[in-house]
Amino acid sequence: GRSGDVDFGFTEEQLMIQDVARRIAREKIAPSAEEFDRSGEFPLENIRLLGENGLMGIEVPAEYGGAGMDPIAYVLAMVEIAAADAAHSTIMSVNNSLFCNGILTHGTEAQKQKYVKAIAEGREIGAFALTEPQSGSDATAMRCRAVKQADGSFKVTGKKSWITSGPVAKYIVLFAMTDPDKAARGITAFLVDTTREGFHRGKTEPKLGIRASATCEIEFEDYVVQPDEVLGEEGHGFKIAMGVLDAGRIGIASQAVGIGRAAYEASIEYSRERHAFGQPIGSFQMIQSKLADMKCKLDASLLLTLRAAWLKGQGKRFTTEAAVAKLTASEAAMWIAHQAVQIHAGMGYSKEMPIERYFRDAKITEIYEGTSEIQRLVIARHETGLR
Ligand code: CAA
Ligand code: FAD
Repeated sequence: GRSGDVDFGFTEEQLMIQDVARRIAREKIAPSAEEFDRSGEFPLENIRLLGENGLMGIEVPAEYGGAGMDPIAYVLAMVEIAAADAAHSTIMSVNNSLFCNGILTHGTEAQKQKYVKAIAEGREIGAFALTEPQSGSDATAMRCRAVKQADGSFKVTGKKSWITSGPVAKYIVLFAMTDPDKAARGITAFLVDTTREGFHRGKTEPKLGIRASATCEIEFEDYVVQPDEVLGEEGHGFKIAMGVLDAGRIGIASQAVGIGRAAYEASIEYSRERHAFGQPIGSFQMIQSKLADMKCKLDASLLLTLRAAWLKGQGKRFTTEAAVAKLTASEAAMWIAHQAVQIHAGMGYSKEMPIERYFRDAKITEIYEGTSEIQRLVIARHETGLR
């Protein structure tokens, strides 16, 4: 069987969304992936199509425009989209995990109606703004400031950097410091409308990989947030961000599994077709060794990702398991893509095949939503009880 075909008795619903994702991935995304990678253009039409098919709000209840499914369904669908094109799956993961998830968990009824529906249906794009030029891993060192006014509104001033979908987002979940003396407990989450005064965008960042996923710096200059645009309670923003990122890391782990699977499947095919010294290169033990190690890393990654998703679906704490899945899957994707280039050799280095794109795309999974070092820190702190 194929590497993705682990059957834990997936439900009809889970298999259905996997099928829908696989069909769109094959018919619409895979054929255009190379062109989007080259141009760096934002794949708006494809994103709308994914939204129309429930893929921008997989865990969002139908009443808020989503597919009403569970975290396992999310993993299965993400893997399919990522296997066709990682950049599409980055946009998908931010809308699903980072934008919708946080508002569903912490938002008011009115906020869910206003913000989640438009994004889950794919009519608008969402973003998540935590990182700043001087604070990535050390997220509580943020300087973006929100000052409370007499009328209960907040005035926001500051910069956020590396914002995925920043160039196209209508709404953004923003984290800003409301009480600098309280550090992590002085951070609050806000819902930002990018069409309003005081919001500015910087240039779109040219990147190594996931080039069709648009990333930019954003800036706030006396941007006014109304009291009903505060997400959750004042001072609870950092916990909201960390909880949202726990779920987000399942999405990035799934993305890594998708990239790794694409690179692995291409390698299997090539090693059967390509001949050297009178035999298929796949009959050389040195190539077989690579293929076997790829398969082990890929299967381990998928199983760990499903475990984290299962725990989330059961309502259990899954911080450590999500970090284990994200770390394992992202390092596996990078290793598999690296070996895939080696197996394809000259053709692996050529733009005529997607292998070099998998290699460039895989790298980001070791960086965003917490670097590999940060995943190791989260896991080891949990296991040792030390800091
Ligand atoms: N869930 C809930 N609460 C949590 C939590 C979690 N997973 N992790 C920490 N917290 C709480 C702690 O309990 C603590 O609360 P109290 O003060 O009430 O005790 C508070 O948050 C502060 O925790 P720490 O002292 O552990 O914080 P820290 O400063 O040591 O940082 C960290 C911890 C894990 C390094 C964190 O800063 C981190 O995850 N950094 C990486 C940032 C990151 O992942 N950014 C991603 C940006 S989004 C993105 O990248 C999107 C994209 O690519 C597409
Ligand atoms: P730094 O934190 O400066 O880290 C530099 C190096 O030091 C890394 O190797 C790091 O692992 C290591 N390091 C740092 N602290 C420790 C430690 N305590 N122990 C050991 N090693 C450590 N952010 C958002 O908020 N929203 C987004 O939508 C978003 N999208 C992104 C899209 C892309 C394409 C990229 C590249 C980034 C995106 N980010 C986003 C930001 C991303 O989350 C950060 O880049 C990431 O968290 C790392 O932060 P940094 O780049 O500032 O690196």
